[in-house]
Amino acid sequence: MAMMRLDKMLADQGLASRKELREIIRAGRVTVDGQVETRPERRLDPESVSIAFDGAPLDYQRFHYYMMDKPTGVVTATEDKRQQTVLDLLPPDLKRMGIFPVGRLDKDTSGLLLLTDDGEFAHRVISPKSCVKKRYYAEVEGEADEEDVMAFSQGILLKDGTQCLPAALELLGGGKCAVTVMEGKYHQVRRMLASRGKPVLTLRRLSIGGLRLPADLDPGGVRELTQEDLCTLFNV
Ligand code: URA
Repeated sequence: MAMMRLDKMLADQGLASRKELREIIRAGRVTVDGQVETRPERRLDPESVSIAFDGAPLDYQRFHYYMMDKPTGVVTATEDKRQQTVLDLLPPDLKRMGIFPVGRLDKDTSGLLLLTDDGEFAHRVISPKSCVKKRYYAEVEGEADEEDVMAFSQGILLKDGTQCLPAALELLGGGKCAVTVMEGKYHQVRRMLASRGKPVLTLRRLSIGGLRLPADLDPGGVRELTQEDLCTLFNV
């Protein structure tokens, strides 16, 4: 693996800010292969050294993967001057890791949102070429019907002329339905349903690929993805 500065290596784990870590290292609280290292600028291969912080071994992780049950009323952005963002909901150690949302959910949409510091992973989840399905639960005005199901399966043409890929619409009755798409155009599910005369009242993302939103995650809650979750995500 590429060589990396000691302070950056520790900062990537969310332990403290880069500035704080420089002081921590200079104070002799960090060891590299059992020897105190006081140079924050020391370059190391994170995968071939043993680091300890205040005597506790550090398990270096190159990338981090989390899921959140995004609540409504929060914007999917890394920063916003006026509105609360999904990053504002994270505990400080996760915020410091530099994780960012994978794709976006609208302010009024809730549900499964992934966060990572791995750009390639994010691209793979988002890109329609990867065929990772995103499934949404929607409550609409009126009642979607078999004609809507057919139109979704053929690919909806949005009012502005944008052509969507074929998608699945499941009728759940009582103004409820589920929509599965493989792409993430701006307000896509809302616009697809609106184009059929069924404006969305409530929208919630239930799953991405094979990964489902767990029932026991609170709104705004985050959980680290396990290796199994990562496999489930892509192997459907
Ligand atoms: N489609 C939408 O319209 N909104 C979302 O937040 C996600 C998909």
